[in-house]
Parts: sequence; structure tokens; C-alpha cells
Amino acid sequence: MKNLYSKIKKIINDSDCLFTDNDKNFIKRIYSNGINRYSSRISMINFTGGEKVLDAGCGFGQWSVALAEQNNQVESIDPCNLRIETLRKIIS
Ligand SMILES: C[S@@+](CC[C@H](N)C(=O)[O-])C[C@H]1O[C@@H](n2cnc3c(N)ncnc32)[C@H](O)[C@@H]1O
Repeated sequence: MKNLYSKIKKIINDSDCLFTDNDKNFIKRIYSNGINRYSSRISMINFTGGEKVLDAGCGFGQWSVALAEQNNQVESIDPCNLRIETLRKIIS
């Protein structure tokens, strides 16, 4: 998962002026140590094995990425273009 954060840092560097310091700090907080804490919470509540799940208001997508590990398909929506585009790049 360290590789995932390296990828995200590159995504930020490539469009640095779009991200506020708050965004960068938040992304660091959610992704820099891997997403295991999100994955384990999802298993804990048995949010697993779904055919299609929705992450409405996905933000930068840490829950979407974790949900996708344990469910067949995840639909992620967010009205904030920067957030949804960042997630699109993270999973590509
Ligand atoms: C508090 S953030 C949570 C983001 C993410 N789920 C997380 O846990 O980090 C709320 C998110 O909901 C999005 N949002 C706001 N209004 C929305 C709406 N009507 N439908 C879907 N998402 C919305 C915002 O753009 C923002 O990314």
C-alpha cells in the first residue's frame, strides 16, 4: 500500500496548484499508512460480499478503495471534481 501513496503523491505533484494544504494534509493522513484501518472497519461491520455498493460523497476515496477490496463493484460519487478525478487517477 506504500506504492499507492507514492502514486497519490505523484498525482498531487502533477497538479499541485489545485490542491489546498488542507487537501494535501488530509490525503497524507488517510493514505500514507495504507488503508488497512478502513478495510478492517469494513470487515468489522460485515460490509463485505456486496454485488454493487455505493460510496456517496466519496471525497478522495479511501472508503471506496477499501470497499472495493471486499465487494464486487463500488460506485463512487462526489460533486467535487478534484476529489472524484483524484480517485479516478488513484484507481487507474
Ligand atoms: C465530510 S466529506 C467525507 C468524504 C469521504 N467520504 C471521507 O470519509 O473522507 C463529505 C463529502 O461529500 C461530498 N458531498 C457534498 N454534497 C454531496 C451530495 N449532495 N451528494 C454526494 N456527495 C456530496 C463532498 O464533496 C465531500 O467530498
